[in-house]
Amino acid sequence: MPDLSSKVALVTGCASGIGAATVRRLVADGAQVLGTDIDADGGAALCAEAGARFAAQDVADEARWAEVVAEVVAAFGRLDILVNNAGTVSSRSIGEVDMAAWSRVLGINLTGTMLGCRAAIGAMKANPGGAKGSIVNIASTTALAPLPTDVGYSASKAGVRALSKSVATWCAQQGLAIRCNTVIPGATDTGILSQAEKVTPGLKQAVAATSPLKRLADPAETAAAIAFLASDECPYMTGGEMLVDGGMMSLHPGF
Ligand SMILES: NC(=O)c1ccc[n+]([C@@H]2O[C@H](COP(=O)([O-])OP(=O)(O)OC[C@H]3O[C@@H](n4cnc5c(N)ncnc54)[C@H](O)[C@@H]3O)[C@@H](O)[C@H]2O)c1
Repeated sequence: MPDLSSKVALVTGCASGIGAATVRRLVADGAQVLGTDIDADGGAALCAEAGARFAAQDVADEARWAEVVAEVVAAFGRLDILVNNAGTVSSRSIGEVDMAAWSRVLGINLTGTMLGCRAAIGAMKANPGGAKGSIVNIASTTALAPLPTDVGYSASKAGVRALSKSVATWCAQQGLAIRCNTVIPGATDTGILSQAEKVTPGLKQAVAATSPLKRLADPAETAAAIAFLASDECPYMTGGEMLVDGGMMSLHPGF
């Protein structure tokens, strides 16, 4: 288990699924955590139960990012880890998508992630003892094998991969000890998959059946990879990616 006992973390989308599992995991590993979510009731309940602090936040709201990062630093004195986890689906194909649906999913999944990176880097640069930090962005296997049924979601997650690499290399070139990596989850048993299942009935079962491991991921399994990248266990990893997909992207389509 990575030792996060001296670390301060901010986790977005903490009310359910992978974000909730990540808050629990980082707290268990010793970190002081601030969780945020647009779902204020759900987020506050999860954080109270997990032993974390909570702030309501819409990650697509630029001004709110400065406030939330200021709250972490005021509460805990520094910021070491940002997990840009909040995300949503639009469930629209290219045949159905309109500007409102496209802008919403890109605004939360991609712009929200960029705003988080920018705000966190500002705080991490000012950490007592010098600039240091680890940013973990959450993409999706739909960035590698896009969904015909959700053009905006797939495009936003492909953007997150490039965003992370740009952030990672810029920080390195600036001489900042701030790493940025991406976790690429496959089908995970969370709210977002239940949302997608409303549009594609039977989705969970179908995806589980085609997975080499024959099951969906438990969010705690994804949180374990996030905790590793967030920690000091992998100082040479930046601009990197970790697939947590049960082997799905490794399987030849014929088998
Ligand atoms: N579940 C999967 O199969 C899967 C696969 C690949 C990637 N992901 C990614 O994992 C991340 C977490 O999703 P999840 O599967 O845990 O789903 P989830 O629906 O259980 O959790 C998403 C959380 O994000 C919050 N959120 C949504 N919009 C927000 C906003 N504008 N501001 C702040 N919070 C907001 C929701 O309230 C919710 O608590 C997402 O980025 C998702 O795209 C999930």
